[in-house]
Parts: sequence; C-alpha cells; structure tokens
Amino acid sequence: MSTPTQDPNEPPKRPHVYDGIEEYDNRLPNWWLWTFYLAIIFAVLYWFTWYSAHYGTSNEEHVNKAMAQLEEAQLAALSEINNETLWQMSQNDGFVAKGEEIFMSTCVSCHGADLKGGIGLNLVDHEWKWGNTPMSVFTVVTNGSPDKTSGMQSWKSQLGPEGISQVVAFVLSHHTPEEMASATTLNTPIGQ
Ligand code: HEC
Repeated sequence: MSTPTQDPNEPPKRPHVYDGIEEYDNRLPNWWLWTFYLAIIFAVLYWFTWYSAHYGTSNEEHVNKAMAQLEEAQLAALSEINNETLWQMSQNDGFVAKGEEIFMSTCVSCHGADLKGGIGLNLVDHEWKWGNTPMSVFTVVTNGSPDKTSGMQSWKSQLGPEGISQVVAFVLSHHTPEEMASATTLNTPIGQ
C-alpha cells in the first residue's frame, strides 16, 4: 500500500492505494443520499403503522378474517342446529353481524336496541321465560311463544332457519354458556 498521488486539479483521493487502484473521495450524490434517508424514514413509518399503531390490516388479521368467513360458511351449511352449534355461531363475527342486522330491523321495536325489553322480554337478564338454553331461544323464535295471550308470533316464515340462527347467535353473543346455564327459567325449557 502506498500513498496516492494527488493532482491539484482532481477531486481529493482516499488515502490508500491497493494494487495500484486509487479511489476518489467524492461526496455521495444528493439523489443517493436522499434515497437513503427516505428509505430510513419510510422504514420507521412503515414499522409504526403496521406494528405499533395497527393502522391497516396485518397478515394475522387477514388470516383471522378469512378463517372466520370459512367458519361462517361451515356453520351456515350445518344441517343440525343444537346448543353447541348455536354457541359457536354466537362467537362468529359474521353470524353475529348478520343477526344484529335482523334484530335491529325485526325485533328492536319490542325488545329494544339494548335488548332489555319493553313490549317484549328482556333478553340480556338472567331470567328466561321459556328456557335458559340456546335451543329454547331458537325454538321460541321459530315457533313463537307457547303462551298465546301474552305471546310472541312465530318468525319462521319471515326469517327462515338461517335468519333465525343468525338472530339467535346475536342474542347469545350477549351471554356465556356458564352464565346462561345458571340463569333462572320460569317454565321447563321448550327446546333442548
Ligand atoms: C311485537 C313485539 C315483538 C317482536 C317484534 C319480537 N318479540 Fe320476542 N317477545 C315478545 C313478547 C311479548 C315476548 C314474551 C312472550 C311470552 O310472554 O311468552 C317475547 C319473547 C321472546 C323470547 C323469549 C324470552 C324468554 O325469556 O324466554 C325471545 C328469545 C324473543 N322474544 C326473541 C325475539 C327475536 C329474536 C325477535 C326478532 C326476530 C323478536 N323476539 C321479536 C314480543 C316481540
């Protein structure tokens, strides 16, 4: 290694020579520096946006959403409706959202937007007139109330089994299996 020869008319050189190769000590061009700085700023913003602030949808959320849609399709295709499948539906966002839509158009006038009742019964308390099981809720909505004087009509022809599962899923999403099992029932549950 030797010291480079410096021609006063040329830009300064780096203080080394390897195998006769010399290097100018140029300042990096502005376009290069700006690309570099912007890449750093972009990386910080990108990191913040996706991983800290949770703007936009992360890969994990994409997967979860796709899984929920798949589960919704599987649940909708179920031919058997029982306590367990109704609880599953009550934990599926798609099902509950559709049920909420039905509730807010069809049931809200008597049961209230907070589900606390009015003309109809409170659906979020710990007392059930016709049974504290998902199937009894499903049955009373499907067939109407067995009590024909204070009763509620059947919603079968208007909503069909799918609409009823959705609206029941929405009602159940306000409860948990444990809480509901310990709730009071005024009559023997009409659905098992
Ligand atoms: C016209 C008013 C009215 C509408 C609309 C209505 N209900 Fe009711 N609902 C009632 C009444 C009244 C009762 C109480 C029936 C009884 O005393 O047997 C009741 C009872 C119920 C029960 C039984 C609660 C229990 O404690 O066992 C459920 C569940 C229910 N309704 C759900 C629904 C759903 C879901 C919808 C919408 C699809 C709906 N209701 C629409 C008036 C209504």
